[in-house]
Amino acid sequence: MLEAVIDTAIEMTDAERGFLLLKDSAGELVVKVARNIDQTTLDAPDFVLSRSIAKQAAETGQPVVTVDAAGDRRFREAASVSDLHLRSVLAVPLSVKGNVVGTIYVDHRLRKGVFDDEAQAMVMDFAEQAAIAIENARLVSELRRRENQVQALNRRLEHELRVQEQALQGVREELKESRQVAALRYDYRHLVGQTPRMQDLFHLLDRVTDTALPVVIEGESGTGKELVARAIHFNGPRRDRPFVSENCAAIPETLLESTLFGHVKGAFTGADREARGLFAVADGGTLFLDEVAEMSPAMQGKLLRVLQDGEFHRVGGERPQRVDVRVLVATNKNLEALVEQGKFRQDLFFRISVVRLVLPPLRDRSEDIPLLVQHFMKKAAAASDTATKSVDASALAKLCSYRWPGNVRELENEITRAAAFSGPVVTAADLSPQVRSGSDPSTALADERDGMRLRPRVERLERTLIREAMTKCGGNQTKAAKALGLSRFGLQKKLRRYRIAA
Ligand SMILES: Nc1ncnc2c1ncn2[C@@H]1O[C@H](COP(=O)(O)OP(=O)(O)OP(=O)(O)O)[C@@H](O)[C@H]1O
Ligand SMILES: [Mg+2]
Repeated sequence: MLEAVIDTAIEMTDAERGFLLLKDSAGELVVKVARNIDQTTLDAPDFVLSRSIAKQAAETGQPVVTVDAAGDRRFREAASVSDLHLRSVLAVPLSVKGNVVGTIYVDHRLRKGVFDDEAQAMVMDFAEQAAIAIENARLVSELRRRENQVQALNRRLEHELRVQEQALQGVREELKESRQVAALRYDYRHLVGQTPRMQDLFHLLDRVTDTALPVVIEGESGTGKELVARAIHFNGPRRDRPFVSENCAAIPETLLESTLFGHVKGAFTGADREARGLFAVADGGTLFLDEVAEMSPAMQGKLLRVLQDGEFHRVGGERPQRVDVRVLVATNKNLEALVEQGKFRQDLFFRISVVRLVLPPLRDRSEDIPLLVQHFMKKAAAASDTATKSVDASALAKLCSYRWPGNVRELENEITRAAAFSGPVVTAADLSPQVRSGSDPSTALADERDGMRLRPRVERLERTLIREAMTKCGGNQTKAAKALGLSRFGLQKKLRRYRIAA
């Protein structure tokens, strides 16, 4: 394009030379196109003057015209102009919107006054046009450069997007896998619980169900220990064999042995025929022994033997009996503390506590109460073959804030009763007085008796909190004292004062 500018501008004879000087991106004036000037001339020292004249036009923004360079004062200080054979010179600045971007330079080495006014006006007109063309060209090339930049940026973005999409896909797959890991193998629909502690329990259950490991299920009364034992049996490989449950505390010591192991005819007074024990009945299946801490040391020893060898003797029997029974035991006591106190055999404890499942009291998972309420409302409706009733917000609030000393069993009884006596919606008025008032029945009675007297009521609160802390901390006084904000010594003083067993 620039070459065309020069060609159209001036038809040059052999004696004329011309070049176009333009600012580069760094603002330096450089020769872009030249006519009748070869590379050697461009580099030669005698070209320095031509270039300095062109630069002068660019810097001042004014054309430089000389009729006879040799006689021109302005160039006298430069090297001998005549030596350079420079007679006529015309340098016209190229300006775009007031900014000089370069110069058009022509000279004639032989003749004076080649560039008259007309020539000068013509080149200036042309310079104006050329400047616009140059600016347009510059804008076009700038536009192209930006376009290329945008395209490169787009390509990079597309690449990054592809990389991110791949990474995201990886994360999605990992998440899917981890969800599959987190999904439970067995169905625990009957065991209502969404809180993390219950979910952890279900995962542990999933892991022990298929094994033959003995399991000890710990938890306060009514927390669902038997329900858990049933889940292990009915989800596991023994599900088609018997599930036998016995409460060790409900049977007198003398009868427990024959209940569990059976007896031969004449083994004791009244044993007029032989009888099978629960171990024999449960053969191939599961025997669930509740309140195992209530067993006498002698019975604990016999239980240990079955667990170790799979063998037992019927009462009065000579031959050992062999059975294949999975034993699950439950307790609402802290077995570890009982072992420390010498009330439970350590060897049996080690044998049965390979897997410990601890059921939280309901007050420690009160977020599950609404779900449990719904579950028991449905159960009550199914039992009475009626439509499921709803529970209004104020009743639900009362149910959620009550402490439930009898745990899930107490809640179930409460809901069954309320559902039976309420209208289509259970309201706070349908709840029992202790749930409505938020206190447990024994406390409510005592409060009534003590009226506003501060001391007995504060003492009762202290007693309750100390008992709770001791149970929670498994009888560990240091931990309980810390939970209560007392010193160990302070706690011991209160334990003595309130006669609470350490
Ligand atoms: N998570 C639960 N979801 C639904 N029902 C439950 C849950 N836990 C307990 N229950 C219900 O509460 C009642 C008491 O449960 P369970 O007999 O298993 O308690 P427990 O811990 O064995 O009590 P105890 O120590 O008095 O023997 C049962 O009717 C049982 O169905
Ligand atoms: Mg039970």
